[in-house]
Amino acid sequence: MSYVLGIDLGTSGVKALILSSEGNIVDIQAQSYTPDFLENGWVEQDPGVWWNATQKVLKEIMDKNSDLKNKITAISCSGQMHSSVFLDENHEVIRPAILWNDTRTKKQTKEIYEKVGEEQLLQLVQNQAFDGFTLPKILWLRENEPENFKKVHKVIMPKDYINFMLTGNIVTDVSDAAGTLLFDVLEKKFSKRLLVLFQLSENMLPKVIESTDAVGVMKKDIAEQLGFLELPTIIAGGADNSCSAVGNGVVSKGQAVVSVGTSGTVIGFVEDIKTKITGQVHLFNYGLPNSIYAMGVMLSAGESLNWLKRNILGSSVASFEEMNELAETASVGSNGLIFLPYLFGERCPYNDPNARGIFFGLSSLTKQGEIIRSVMEGVSFGLKDCFNLVADFTDINEVYITGGGAKSEIWGKIIADILNKKLTVLNVSEGPAFGAALIAAVGSGIFADFETAKSKTIKVERTIEPNTENNKKYEEIYKRYTKIYENNKNLF
Ligand code: XUL
Repeated sequence: MSYVLGIDLGTSGVKALILSSEGNIVDIQAQSYTPDFLENGWVEQDPGVWWNATQKVLKEIMDKNSDLKNKITAISCSGQMHSSVFLDENHEVIRPAILWNDTRTKKQTKEIYEKVGEEQLLQLVQNQAFDGFTLPKILWLRENEPENFKKVHKVIMPKDYINFMLTGNIVTDVSDAAGTLLFDVLEKKFSKRLLVLFQLSENMLPKVIESTDAVGVMKKDIAEQLGFLELPTIIAGGADNSCSAVGNGVVSKGQAVVSVGTSGTVIGFVEDIKTKITGQVHLFNYGLPNSIYAMGVMLSAGESLNWLKRNILGSSVASFEEMNELAETASVGSNGLIFLPYLFGERCPYNDPNARGIFFGLSSLTKQGEIIRSVMEGVSFGLKDCFNLVADFTDINEVYITGGGAKSEIWGKIIADILNKKLTVLNVSEGPAFGAALIAAVGSGIFADFETAKSKTIKVERTIEPNTENNKKYEEIYKRYTKIYENNKNLF
């Protein structure tokens, strides 16, 4: 039997997972860290912290599974997207990486639109400009730290840095290249036009390979240090959203996954783009070779319920289980109460950083259970917005649901009713690390393809059927939900 290892390099920690060729997860280990949250919404992290934590987690998992020291065939890493690592000509880190959730680049994002225009940007890279993406960060560095900018030899993403430290080779994969805002997703190459417009050299960008391609083999000294007796092949891996969707079973046409974590995402596998690109959903290259995924992102999904519990309900409810029970006491539509979940602004369907939450329809009769249910319903309407936009690019006939929100029976039912889709819960809990392990397994030939990898490793746990009567009621409420934003957007 052979084994692969998947790494998930996240914003607040790193995980490592060992998967056997029989499809079983052998072990998972984790290390946490905290990014530096600086003034004015700046978020940075020294890539050395990622590397140290990754070494620790790899050493730990190999120490605990010492019988596998010569059996790990391949390793692949999933990583937070867009976060920029600046390397000099000696491949040393020039300054802390600027992370995906850093908001310092408002001016540069505006300049990108002024210089390129929205339509042309969509033609060149198929995505809108967001503050968190890589191009605005490069422009910020040039403007604000010219001395550092002069030293830049390569700009790579977090998981590329780990791959570099493991192998000595600098490359990125298509799914991370797609998040730079410099990559033509359809043509699969950096946009010469954008590079010329911003006077940037293509040499600054890494070579791009598929997620399943090999970066190299693990360096001998690193292998010895971490406890590998054979040198594993390092497979490129990819962006966390891409790896997560792979790990959640999205491996062919018609499949999509709804994820209700702190933020919410709907990701659908896209075979070819026939629809007009509006930029309302991200279109990025996928972990499966030569494919694309469409992704709608809501900023406050599970966070809306967390906020309600933490800031509003306080000690009046003991747990999320109790909140579920209270939500069960309310009827479809929460007695006229509608919640808009834009607590931190929104990305999809509106790119509106100024939008905020709304409770519409409170009365002196409103009960606690209705408030809780309306928050679940409001987030689910937001997911429907994302779902509909993703569905413009591909006919979705199989929908998986994952994330903390999927653990709530009532919330799962509300989402199924609002989308009017059967939802399938899979036996997957570590999406990105698991997806990275599957990419390692397919990339190294342990599984012939992703369909085989899926059938060997992923099982259906339960399904949630939609209720057509409830869906009819929700369709009416959804029209009001949409109007509430339209009528208030200028007031935010
Ligand atoms: C995607 C994005 C986030 C990061 C978080 O566009 O910004 O999901 O990838 O890790």
